[in-house]
Amino acid sequence: MKPFLQLLKPYRTAFIGAMAALFLAALFNSAMTGLVTSLMDGVITNQPTTTESRADKIFGYKERLKDVKETLEKWGVPFEKFQKPSGKDALVNPLSWAILALFLFSTQALFEYIGTYLMGKLGLRVVVKMRQNLVDKVLSLPLIFFKAYSTGDLLARINTDVLRIQQAISVKMAELFKSTTNAVVFLILAFLLNWKLSLTLFVLVPLIGLPIAIFSKKIRKHASRSQANLGSLTSHLKEVLVGIRIVKGFQKEKFESEKLAKENHGFYRHSLRELRIVAMTTPIMSILGMLVIVAFVCYGSVIIQSGTMTQGDFLFYILVIYQLYQPIKRIAKANSEIQQAVGVLPRIDEILNWENSILEPMEPRRFDLFPDIETIRFRHVHFSYGVSPDIAPVLHDINLEIHKGRVIALVGASGSGKSTLVNLLPRFYDVNQGAIEINGLDIRKMKLTDLRQLFAIVTQDTVLFNDTIHNNIGYGMDVSRERVMSAARKAYADHFIEELSNGYDTFIGESGNNLSGGQRQRLSIARAILKNAPILILDEATSALDTESEREVQMALEDLMKTKTTLVIAHRLSTIRQADEILVLDRGRIVERGNHQQLLTANGPYKKLIQLQEVG
Ligand SMILES: Nc1ncnc2c1ncn2[C@@H]1O[C@H](COP(=O)(O)OP(=O)(O)O)[C@@H](O)[C@H]1O
Ligand SMILES: [Mg+2]
Repeated sequence: MKPFLQLLKPYRTAFIGAMAALFLAALFNSAMTGLVTSLMDGVITNQPTTTESRADKIFGYKERLKDVKETLEKWGVPFEKFQKPSGKDALVNPLSWAILALFLFSTQALFEYIGTYLMGKLGLRVVVKMRQNLVDKVLSLPLIFFKAYSTGDLLARINTDVLRIQQAISVKMAELFKSTTNAVVFLILAFLLNWKLSLTLFVLVPLIGLPIAIFSKKIRKHASRSQANLGSLTSHLKEVLVGIRIVKGFQKEKFESEKLAKENHGFYRHSLRELRIVAMTTPIMSILGMLVIVAFVCYGSVIIQSGTMTQGDFLFYILVIYQLYQPIKRIAKANSEIQQAVGVLPRIDEILNWENSILEPMEPRRFDLFPDIETIRFRHVHFSYGVSPDIAPVLHDINLEIHKGRVIALVGASGSGKSTLVNLLPRFYDVNQGAIEINGLDIRKMKLTDLRQLFAIVTQDTVLFNDTIHNNIGYGMDVSRERVMSAARKAYADHFIEELSNGYDTFIGESGNNLSGGQRQRLSIARAILKNAPILILDEATSALDTESEREVQMALEDLMKTKTTLVIAHRLSTIRQADEILVLDRGRIVERGNHQQLLTANGPYKKLIQLQEVG
């Protein structure tokens, strides 16, 4: 409960207001119960009532009612007509009863409304803020974070977990508070009315609870066992079905059938035991319940006869006990649901407390001090994804210098570290040792937004958003149609865009699935062209394309590379051949460097790779 109250701290006033309203609502609710029985005694059976004087002692409404009566008479309401025949006491005439009832009902309803509304609003405010914090945090976190958490997991935390917390605050906290107030009030009432009877009851009732507890424990035990049987049956069955060709090929149908039968039978046994206990519970509980009721009624008739309690008092008492039972049940339920919500809080804190390892420098150097990108330099760069030292480094002592306008190609087997190397540049990850410098300035000393402004990145998997073509190309920028069109033209995307139903205003379906791979790729190239960043990073931008669209994408990329400083990871020999320098990576090391011709004559790893590719 404590972490929850922590959440509500900023909204202390609203919370206290809500609680006060709910408390008053609960008080009026119990007063209403008293009122109903005063009707019984005073109005219907016309007996002298003790409830009334008791209730009056508790709520003190008699005086106020007299005022009401006098006021009404002043207004000329023929109050006396409603007077019951024998009544000396004007309090229990139907009119005053009705007025009082109306007053209590509407006041109770009003407070209930205020309390529920305030608590609901409180929950919404907590949760909207929490969700925004989560979203902002997640957006600020480095890529390494997204390796640790799957998209589904993050969505579950931001949506479902947060929703559960809202429910707990908006609904369950109010429920808990209301029920507790009710329970306390009715408990006090029960003891005020007849403390001996109450004491007896509170000793007896837990005795009924005892068999329930025993039964529930047994039911839970068997339920979890039969569930386990069902679980292993399911997973085994899945294995069998997935591997059905093996099963049939090895003629193991009977063998598998017997194994499955064993689990199936286990499920039957435990379910049957569970069933037996469940079937037994209700009759036993009814018998016990009947016994208590019979005893209660017998005792009741004795005390009514002896004059200790009136019929109305006894009815009031039964109502009080009933009203007491309801909130206790609800307290237990609300509490367990709040506990569940408390249980998900660590899942949210875990995200909110994730330490961002890509830090903004304390005193960032503004990059617009530099007119142009002259050099990019890797100095003895070491990098590994894991923090622990025994994880093999992915990059090992990388030294590299790239000059303005040059094209550097990275080649190497899959997993050799090419993508990792280029991802270090925009600080998607930070180097472990060494440094990366642009124009001699360590990139960790630059403002992150300045740094990332320098790169246009096109990767193999193009990411498009569920928006128009225009907004996808001008992603996050407010740009004119002319500029978008010019970028599209340079990316060889203008033809197919113009053929779409709404041209540049066509909405792209979820992740662009009504466009071909080549079309999507050209859109992401247009996006890179529009960004007009000085450094271009192409990470296998053409590898997922068919030859037809590859040619157009290739042309688009080659045009683009002419004006930029480029790092390109590519399979296509034509791209690689034109590079000013080719770096051959092998298990995180640069094992060879030079231009195409030099490397061919060197007859080393590069030549081998080329031959392999040509064979493949
Ligand atoms: N996010 C990551 N977390 C842990 N290991 C990774 C991650 N990304 C890549 N690796 C590992 O780093 C090595 C280099 O990967 P990568 O740079 O993607 O190679 P390439 O692009 O040359 O195929 C591989 O062994 C790969 O398994
Ligand atoms: Mg890669």
